[in-house]
Amino acid sequence: MKKLVVANWKMNPQTPAEAKKLFASVEHRLHSIEKEVEVAVCPPFVFFPILSQHAGNVRLGAQNMSAEEKGAWTGEISPLHLKSFKVEYVILGHSERREYFGETGSMVNKKAYLALKHKITPIICLGAENITKQFNAVTRELRDIELQKIVYVYEPAWAISTAKNSKPETGDHVNEQVLHIENLLAKKLRSQAKAKNIRILYGGSVNKGNVHDFAKHPAIDGCLVGAASLDSENFWQVIKEFSK
Ligand code: PGA
Repeated sequence: MKKLVVANWKMNPQTPAEAKKLFASVEHRLHSIEKEVEVAVCPPFVFFPILSQHAGNVRLGAQNMSAEEKGAWTGEISPLHLKSFKVEYVILGHSERREYFGETGSMVNKKAYLALKHKITPIICLGAENITKQFNAVTRELRDIELQKIVYVYEPAWAISTAKNSKPETGDHVNEQVLHIENLLAKKLRSQAKAKNIRILYGGSVNKGNVHDFAKHPAIDGCLVGAASLDSENFWQVIKEFSK
């Protein structure tokens, strides 16, 4: 299974020109290692028209999506909009959306179902507080085939670089949590082998200085990168480490 490195740009950068430049810096260099690692960039929605013209090896992802397909939902973005700009992934249940925008497990579950219906791969974040409870809420009533298409991310809110009193995670502890998520999947799917084939990533302050501590564990299938993905050199080093 190819490792997956996802950039979560959050509400950055501020202009289309900067977005294009940052995106191109990844796109250019990825040629040399695209066989070993997959990279997805999740920019603010408004940059999709410009970035989708340049997307080749680098995949596009959204940072959120509506739980509805169309209609009177002011301010929402539908999976149909995303599809028209070649968006292949969508981050769901990020801790910032749970904390500041009231996104619940059942909302994430509904969005995941809709994303899968439109062949967009959900990247579902699970925090540290109660992973099992969050896992059960977001995967409710999804079929085995759907569960296997999702990318899961262990991302504790307190390890995010911009969080107040942010505390770094250790590779060993992340490895344990990733295996815990793998076991939850194995139980649901009644197969350890199937669970092993599902991507489980880590997110929280990953950068060129600490990436080795996570990438050295075979169970960690990649990472979700915020702040470091806004610096092309830093992000490139993270990608390279997961390509080994
Ligand atoms: P960070 O953000 O890499 O800046 O900690 C990760 C995230 O919030 O997805």
